[in-house]
Amino acid sequence: MVDWKNPPKLFIPGPVKVNEDVLQQLARPTLGHRGKEYAQLHGETVDMLKKILFTNQNIFLSTSSASGIWEASIRNCVDFNETVLCTCCGAFSDKWAEVSESCGRKTDTLKVEWGLPTTPEMIDKKLAGGKYAAITLVYNETSTGLTNPVYQISEMMKAKYPDVLVFVDAVSGMVGLPMHFDDLGWDIVFASVQKAFAIPPGFAVAAVSNRALEKAKKVPYRGYYFDFIQFAKSAEKNQTPTTPSIPHVMALNYQCQKLLAEGMENVWQRHKEMGQFVRTWAKEKFDLFCEEKYASDTLTTVKNTRNIVVGDVIKAVQAKHKVAFGNGYGKLKDNTFRIAHMGDITLDELRDLVSWIDDEIG
Ligand SMILES: Cc1ncc(COP(=O)(O)O)c(C=O)c1O
Repeated sequence: MVDWKNPPKLFIPGPVKVNEDVLQQLARPTLGHRGKEYAQLHGETVDMLKKILFTNQNIFLSTSSASGIWEASIRNCVDFNETVLCTCCGAFSDKWAEVSESCGRKTDTLKVEWGLPTTPEMIDKKLAGGKYAAITLVYNETSTGLTNPVYQISEMMKAKYPDVLVFVDAVSGMVGLPMHFDDLGWDIVFASVQKAFAIPPGFAVAAVSNRALEKAKKVPYRGYYFDFIQFAKSAEKNQTPTTPSIPHVMALNYQCQKLLAEGMENVWQRHKEMGQFVRTWAKEKFDLFCEEKYASDTLTTVKNTRNIVVGDVIKAVQAKHKVAFGNGYGKLKDNTFRIAHMGDITLDELRDLVSWIDDEIG
């Protein structure tokens, strides 16, 4: 039996710790999803998300994890005779390219070594040499703890390739990192809520541009569950096409209120301070996996320069203090470990966590 009284507090890079007041939002009375109360909840939530993501375009609420929107972006906005360029710099960006191929779309990749960023120059060079309908970018690569220079990439895209659609996975970046959807000229951005929104997993938020919707109208076989055209039709009534996870919308509404009350600049600053704190510790005791300039403010991937047995340290800290932090992802399993600093995690909690890791590594 799970020990519900004493579960570990989560500092893994998602799902992250969820505060008690947020959990309580998930336990409100159920609403009918075609009733006026739900429509009000949905409409309010979408309006707040527009402010949070700096957009006047479309917001879709998806009862899926973010991987569903990987697939949705490709199936809705890339036709079968077109090619998408997937930029790959770690496990999640690699996976999106695989998803694109599995949707039967012509997929080209631009790969860099894990830990390195994808730069505007690299993308420019690739786009100059071929005809692409869209590119995929991962804002914050959760495997390597790297933030791509998406603002610079977007400037280059707007100036040189304004007709190429830009799809951005901001799963571990949204809310924690600056994001001005309309100004950036992006066509799709999405995140699941178990990261910086600090809500339990099972739900995703997407912003979709008007031109992406126009494009979708011309793409056949968009599928059923993630059809953006159906999402847009339902959104006009403040609904979703299928029955949504209403408890998630309740929690999302609550978290959006808190984010707006704090102010997005302050929220981003808070994440920056947490990032700086963990990076300072990591550099003193180990090293950073990626160059500091690109190191993420929502999670840190620490290079295991002391050859600790990562799994053992994680287990020991959890046994003594009921907290969990993350091992490295995939091929980085033992030579890195990861600490999340996003959402409702606090600096004080991070101070405790690193001191407990210190106790173990001596
Ligand atoms: C950058 C990134 N993209 C996509 C995903 C997949 O998200 P989900 O598991 O919510 O489908 C993750 C999960 O950690 C992620 O970190």
